[in-house]
Amino acid sequence: MKIPARVETKLRECAANGTVNCYVYDTSAMRDKIKKLTQMMPQGVEIFYAMKANPHPAFLAAARETGARGIEIASLGEAKKAASAGFSPTQLIYTGPGKSVEELRWSVEHGIRMVHVESLAEVYRLEHICAELNRMQDILLRINANFDIHEAQTTFSGGSKKFGIDEEQLEATLPRILNMPHLRFRGLHVYAASGVLNVDDLLRNCELVFGMTKKIEAQYAGISCDTIDFGGGFGIDYLETGQDFDPQAYAVGLKKMINEYGFSGRTFFLELGRYLAADSGWFCTQILDIKESRGKKQVICAGGINHFRRPAALSINHPLAIVRMNRPPLFDEQVSVRNESVYFGGPLCTGADKLADNVRTVAADIGDIAVFAYAGAYGLSMSNIDFLSHARPGEIILE
Ligand SMILES: Cc1ncc(COP(=O)(O)O)c(C=O)c1O
Repeated sequence: MKIPARVETKLRECAANGTVNCYVYDTSAMRDKIKKLTQMMPQGVEIFYAMKANPHPAFLAAARETGARGIEIASLGEAKKAASAGFSPTQLIYTGPGKSVEELRWSVEHGIRMVHVESLAEVYRLEHICAELNRMQDILLRINANFDIHEAQTTFSGGSKKFGIDEEQLEATLPRILNMPHLRFRGLHVYAASGVLNVDDLLRNCELVFGMTKKIEAQYAGISCDTIDFGGGFGIDYLETGQDFDPQAYAVGLKKMINEYGFSGRTFFLELGRYLAADSGWFCTQILDIKESRGKKQVICAGGINHFRRPAALSINHPLAIVRMNRPPLFDEQVSVRNESVYFGGPLCTGADKLADNVRTVAADIGDIAVFAYAGAYGLSMSNIDFLSHARPGEIILE
């Protein structure tokens, strides 16, 4: 992994003012991706940014300024952040299990574009709110398809899941949803998996949803799924194997499928988080200590899972490089790392505080800065921020 020169320059600047522990963001990669995806995707495909990946205003601005159709939200907090970033409620689509009365009421009152219902309880809750407010609400039904993608980092469908309604329960559920006087059924949402690098796997998901759509439309007279949401899932090559997700191949495959199924004229949502945001951020944390412990070096950094939990949560290593600071040693026998496999952790009082393990490291000394790539998505947003009450890491935007 190579640290971009702009990032390194900024870190050297920061190091002059104290201990470095921050995210550095440069959203140019994200901007570029949204523009390219918008151009290459078939007619009818709308790109939403799944802001759970990174809710920082710079990422929301990148989505808005490059013409993303809107934001996929999963809480009232996200709705409010998206609104502050200039998105209108009609650009918001709301997914996720367990939406509260307050969250649904806000959504209906503000007229958001779509609520993705994930259970019958949610359908009834939403219907009551709409009836009370005398409003209609467009909905998509999220289905837990009987299908999974084995190579995915995380699966969202197949097996017993908290997401959506099981495909097998559709027959019992759909007629009740269609009878709700204040809910306008618009179609289906099936999000199979996150972090998929193989285009064919995601296209199989699309095909499955298309098949399901045809079946439903044949079964229920007058029903039409004019909108289909495939969720997110475009992967990032965290291991730098060179096997990047190929959006162009996905676009070509999807277009072919839309034609084969006679589905042109419909709307298709993609709610992408990781693919858009990951390579626009680096987690950068200064090395505070290096110890030898029973044959292995333990490198202790200023921030751990409180600031960058993803590697520990998913048991993976992010690509890592060291900015050498050439600080004078604190004492003669100070331990250094030279061409060896070491452990990187944070300052927290838990053995789970891992940033990376068994990382072959050419050279690292106390005072150097460890830089973790692909940290723009699910970095700070999924970390244990209050554990041990350390200060929040900085979030530095490169203009
Ligand atoms: C409903 C929904 N949509 C979209 C996403 C974004 O997924 P990804 O970051 O894999 O694109 C997620 C992630 O958890 C999700 O739960």
